[in-house]
Amino acid sequence: MNYQVGDLVQGTITRIVSYGAFMVFEDETQGLLHISEVANSYIRNLYHYLHVGAIYLVKVIAVDEEKNFLKVSLKQVSKEERLADKGGLNDRIKSRIDFTALKAAMPKFIDEALNKINHTTANKEEESMVKVDLSHLVDKVDFASYEAKVKTIHEGIHAKSLPGNDFLGWLNYPNEYDQNELALMMEKAKEVRSHFDTLVVCGIGGSYLGALAAINALKGLYPDDPFKIIFMGQTFSATYIAQVMDYLKNRNFAINVISKSGTTTETSISFRLLKQLLESKVGKEKAKNAIFATTDKEKGALKQEAMKEGYTTFTLPGDIGGRYSVLSPVGLFPIACAGIDIKAMLEGAKEAMNNYNNAELMNNPCYQYAVIRDYMYHHDKQCEMFVTYEPHLKEIAEWLKQLFAESEGKGHKGLLPTSATFSTDLHSLGQFIQDGSPVLFETLLFIKKPMKDVIIPHDNEDLDGLNYIENKALSFVNERAYLGTLAAHEHDGKVNNVVLEVEELTAKSLGYLFYFFMKACAMSAYLLDVNPFDQPGVEIYKKNMFHLLGKKGY
Ligand code: PA5
Repeated sequence: MNYQVGDLVQGTITRIVSYGAFMVFEDETQGLLHISEVANSYIRNLYHYLHVGAIYLVKVIAVDEEKNFLKVSLKQVSKEERLADKGGLNDRIKSRIDFTALKAAMPKFIDEALNKINHTTANKEEESMVKVDLSHLVDKVDFASYEAKVKTIHEGIHAKSLPGNDFLGWLNYPNEYDQNELALMMEKAKEVRSHFDTLVVCGIGGSYLGALAAINALKGLYPDDPFKIIFMGQTFSATYIAQVMDYLKNRNFAINVISKSGTTTETSISFRLLKQLLESKVGKEKAKNAIFATTDKEKGALKQEAMKEGYTTFTLPGDIGGRYSVLSPVGLFPIACAGIDIKAMLEGAKEAMNNYNNAELMNNPCYQYAVIRDYMYHHDKQCEMFVTYEPHLKEIAEWLKQLFAESEGKGHKGLLPTSATFSTDLHSLGQFIQDGSPVLFETLLFIKKPMKDVIIPHDNEDLDGLNYIENKALSFVNERAYLGTLAAHEHDGKVNNVVLEVEELTAKSLGYLFYFFMKACAMSAYLLDVNPFDQPGVEIYKKNMFHLLGKKGY
């Protein structure tokens, strides 16, 4: 190897991760620029300092001859050394050089680099796709007093010995799912995308929120995709349904009807309408090939209908309840139809499953989050506010609201889950959070690398006074808003904040995140001494409604 400690070398960034950046050097030697070696100041977001594809002059600080791998530093390169760097091009100009050949080789470099470091550079926290930051809690949570209880509950969950244990199918699902069914879903999703221009997902509650959340989170609200996914079956609103039906008159659409029970009234009414519209457009036989049913393996009206009509069916395992079903065919088929890699999503969930199968509270951030929720509930907080800084993550919060409200809101107990999208809602709810009744704590989900970015342009006249942030990325402004708000809420408002930071939202990290929340919810509900998997309260309105509608037997 031709490198020695102290050498100055030029290298290209191939990948940015939470703990630094991987680089490749001229002779294809690879290396790691650890976050602590980037700058002398504290770095919150590496993407503001480094760019994939850009060249940097770095100093070699360690050489691993055997693995052909360097550890390098950016901060140890002096100003003089930088100026003396031959060619004298600054980083920005260098990043414009044509690196097409290098780019093509990058995936290989990245894989090799990742294999080489073999987890030695990353500690447990760094490996996790969700970083749980507890440093913004105002209260001092006494974790030690929870350790024994958490351990007992963890063992109970995994031994399936606690109330609701027959609904723990989601727990090991990322390891136990039916591979054939996954392959069928992927194949059918491809067909749907090539034969139709629209998929209508027909379901309610746990039978649609996860798919909606994932599709918006990973594709954004205005994706550049001619294939549309729309939702029906989640409302009795005549206006909504009539408008969707009008929209569909001119679309070549398929239907994915999803209902575990197969008898949910909102979904059944919508499905009847959708089916008749489809049949009137393409005929009964063709319609059968455009209908996909996701339901119980054996029971329910939908299952009977699907069998009679010969629809392609996917199965929601009997031991997985609606709000824990996003990683089952309930969520996965529509997500696959949106062109998202559902295998990667399950891989992420599996990683979370392994990471959080740990009874030790102090080594399990997922359980720490559950404990904080319990602590807040027992210390005068009535409400948990889920906060994001991205409108396309709003439905993640809707999914969370169902998960926690239906799992915990029983026996006159539980936190009220609510949500806000900042900075939008800082202009409506912000006053209350900062200065109103101290009833809530915030759980903030921040994605460090946005899906897209925008540069604020220069304006010669500067009438709006914005030139002080010209050429800055909007993601930079959004992050400053996040940091400023966090400080205001924590220090001035005395609002407890749990910060969940995700490096980048991908199918894999979203699968991880979904699992993180489901496991945390199970622990949190058991800490509260309620069964996380039933929902007796939601039956009462249905009985009254059926009585008022004149349904037989009510
Ligand atoms: O989480 C739940 O169990 C509920 O929200 C259900 O998902 C919802 O009521 C829809 O039920 P079904 O899938 O049986 O139509």
